[in-house]
Amino acid sequence: MNYIIENGIDPLEYNRLRNTIGWDSKDESLIKDAVNSSAIVKSIKIDDKTIGMARAIGDGIYYLIVDVVVDKEYHGKGFGKVLIDEISKEVYGRTQVGQKASIILISMQGKEGFYEKCGFRKVPFDFTGYGMMKSIQK
Ligand SMILES: CC(C)(COP(=O)(O)OP(=O)(O)OC[C@H]1O[C@@H](n2cnc3c(N)ncnc32)[C@H](O)[C@@H]1OP(=O)(O)O)[C@@H](O)C(=O)NCCC(=O)NCCS
Repeated sequence: MNYIIENGIDPLEYNRLRNTIGWDSKDESLIKDAVNSSAIVKSIKIDDKTIGMARAIGDGIYYLIVDVVVDKEYHGKGFGKVLIDEISKEVYGRTQVGQKASIILISMQGKEGFYEKCGFRKVPFDFTGYGMMKSIQK
């Protein structure tokens, strides 16, 4: 299937993709701010239809992958992996020779195998302890 990769995502498409997998919509201005302040934003299009997205928040040393969504109709066709590989390639391109960058993410339950296929290892490994998280609800 022919596809194109774009840098960025339209807020309406962002919400439409989330909705295809049963996630709620987010406020449009919040999405714009989040996308604009992301280090890397990738979306994938087939025949002008956005069928997937992924973005990374980052500072050149650490990158946090979030919002990895493939339209439900297109699951299992390799597009999720294409998006994560695109982010990995971009991080590689931005990292100076001799320097290291780390890409971090929190997998949804049951998606760990997908990320392992994309080259990630489950934490803890080596010297790392568990990943930790705190949500702030207002
Ligand atoms: C998770 C998600 C992005 C994967 O996208 P996808 O396009 O369906 O996955 P791909 O077809 O690129 O899969 C790549 C590889 O991972 C494997 N894989 C996919 N989902 C998997 C899972 N849940 N568990 C184990 N392996 C999985 C595939 O079999 C494939 O393996 P292969 O290369 O040996 O054929 C997609 O299912 C999705 O949008 N899910 C809902 C949202 C979500 O949970 N996002 C992740 C948030 S952390």
